[in-house]
Amino acid sequence: MTKLLINIDHVATLRNARRESFPDPLEAAKACLRGGAEGIVFHLREDRRHINDTDVRRFAAELDTKLDFELSLAPEIVDICCDVAPALATLVPERREEVTTEGGLDVSRHAERLQVVIPKLFDSGVEHVALFVDPIASQIQAAADVGANAIELHTGDYANAADEASRTDVLSRLALAAAQAHDLGMTVHAGHGLDTHNYPAFGATIPHLAEVSIGFAVVARALFIGFEQAVAEMRSIIEKHPHGS
Ligand code: PXP
Repeated sequence: MTKLLINIDHVATLRNARRESFPDPLEAAKACLRGGAEGIVFHLREDRRHINDTDVRRFAAELDTKLDFELSLAPEIVDICCDVAPALATLVPERREEVTTEGGLDVSRHAERLQVVIPKLFDSGVEHVALFVDPIASQIQAAADVGANAIELHTGDYANAADEASRTDVLSRLALAAAQAHDLGMTVHAGHGLDTHNYPAFGATIPHLAEVSIGFAVVARALFIGFEQAVAEMRSIIEKHPHGS
């Protein structure tokens, strides 16, 4: 069964909007786990716009679950990730002016740096290093070539597809990319813009989907029904729509 990991960055976004100490992302993470989340995701951005270094230390010390540390290739952040040694490190592109991560990593372009960073992450104790990539065959191959043992497929184009034809087209590209990554021996993750409405067709179509990382939709829903309920709702949609259903 595909695992559900919840990204709690936006709890920190809300906290930071008032420069307050609440709402606490750690408390939100614990509520997500009570609701059935199988891991917690956070992105320590270079500009620390949401999650900060203290949050990361507290997650590592107090959460007894799989942590997915999203990071750019910035040396300072790579060092923090190595120090924390989460079970999963997901390398993402990062631009200061973006509202959220806007696309997959250009793996070939950053191959030289990736070939230094990936072994460093494994040496620190990280079990899976995933590259966040668009569903493009050359990127998937490049991810395997630089030594990643997982990919996270960028599902933003699927979530934002303007019409049914483009949604079907991107779904088939995602399915091919998942099969290719699996054949290359990599674990397949996916995320960005997934929610209770668009997940059913996605889950039913994509093979080998080990886990999904979902943030915004669950945090937004939690404002109305609480984290436990919002996570349980998402979890039940995932369970009802496995590949081939
Ligand atoms: N995966 C990656 C690599 C991301 O950058 C994000 C956004 O922070 C997500 C998953 C989750 O996306 P969303 O918040 O739209 O569910």
